[in-house]
Amino acid sequence: MITAALDLDRVPSHVACVMDGNGRWAQSRGLPRTEGHRAGEEALFDVVDGALDIGVEWLTVYAFSTENWRRPPDEVRFLLEFNEDILLRRRDDLHERGVRIRFVGRRDRRVPKKLIQLMDDAVELTRRNRRMTFTIAFNYGGRAEIVDAVRAVVNSGISADRITERTIACRLYDPEMPEPDLMIRTSGECRTSNFLLWELAYSELYFTDTAWPDFRRVDLYEAIRVYQERERRFGQVSPNGASSAITFNGDGKRRDHPG
Ligand code: IPE
Ligand code: IPE
Ligand code: MG
Repeated sequence: MITAALDLDRVPSHVACVMDGNGRWAQSRGLPRTEGHRAGEEALFDVVDGALDIGVEWLTVYAFSTENWRRPPDEVRFLLEFNEDILLRRRDDLHERGVRIRFVGRRDRRVPKKLIQLMDDAVELTRRNRRMTFTIAFNYGGRAEIVDAVRAVVNSGISADRITERTIACRLYDPEMPEPDLMIRTSGECRTSNFLLWELAYSELYFTDTAWPDFRRVDLYEAIRVYQERERRFGQVSPNGASSAITFNGDGKRRDHPG
C-alpha cells in the first residue's frame, strides 16, 4: 500500500502547495502553456483525494499570485476563466466529500465579478463542512496580505506599544488557518514566490523536480514521508540530542540516519 511508509498518527495537519511548472510541462510537449494549466486540474484533485484519504485537515494551494497579472493577457484571461470553470464543475463534488472551500487573496477590481460570485457561492455552500479545509490562494501575495493586515491594525487605532505578533496574525486573510506544517513546491524552483510569507516561518519546505501536471497523491505521500523524517525544533535544542535523524561526524560532515 502506498501509505505503508507513512506514520498516519503524524500526518501534517496543514499542507500548502505551490503548483508550479504547468507552462514548462506543456512547452516541453510542444503544447501551448495553457494546456499545462488544464493538465494541472487532474493533479490537483488527485492530491485533494490523497490528502482526504490520510486525514490532512487543511490543504492550501497557490492558484494565482499578485505577480501573475504580469503574464501575457491571453494567459491571464485563460487562468481567470479556468478557475471559474473549475469552481463550477468541482464544488458539488468537494461539498459531498465534506470539504470546506475558502479563499485567500486580494479582491481588487482586476478579479472579475463573476469569479468573486462563484467564490462566495462555493464558500457558502461548503461552510459547515469539517473533514478538510481546502483554501485556494487567488490574487494572493504574502506581502499584500501583511500590508492589508497592517492597514487593519492602523485602522483599529491600537497603540504601537500594544502591537504583538498576534495583532498581525489575527488580521491575516484567514485568521483561523493554522500555519502550514509542510510546504511543497513542484517543478524545481526553490523559492516561495510570495506565498504565505508570514505563515511559512516555521514550515518544513519540500521541493521536487516533478512538474505540477505530473504530481499525484503518491508524490504527496513521498513529501509527507520526508517531512516525517525531519525534526522540527522551533528554535529550541533537540530533546533527543544525538539520536536526532541527522548528526555530524567529528570532521563536521553530516552523518545521516545513525544506526
Ligand atoms: C504554475 O505554473 C501555475 C500558475 C502560476 C498559475 P506556471 O504557469 O508558473 O508554469 P511555469 O513555471 O512557467 O512552467
Ligand atoms: C508561483 O509561481 C505562483 C503560482 C504557482 C500560482 P510562479 O511561476 O508565478 O513563480 P515564479 O515567477 O517562478 O517565481
Ligand atoms: Mg512558474
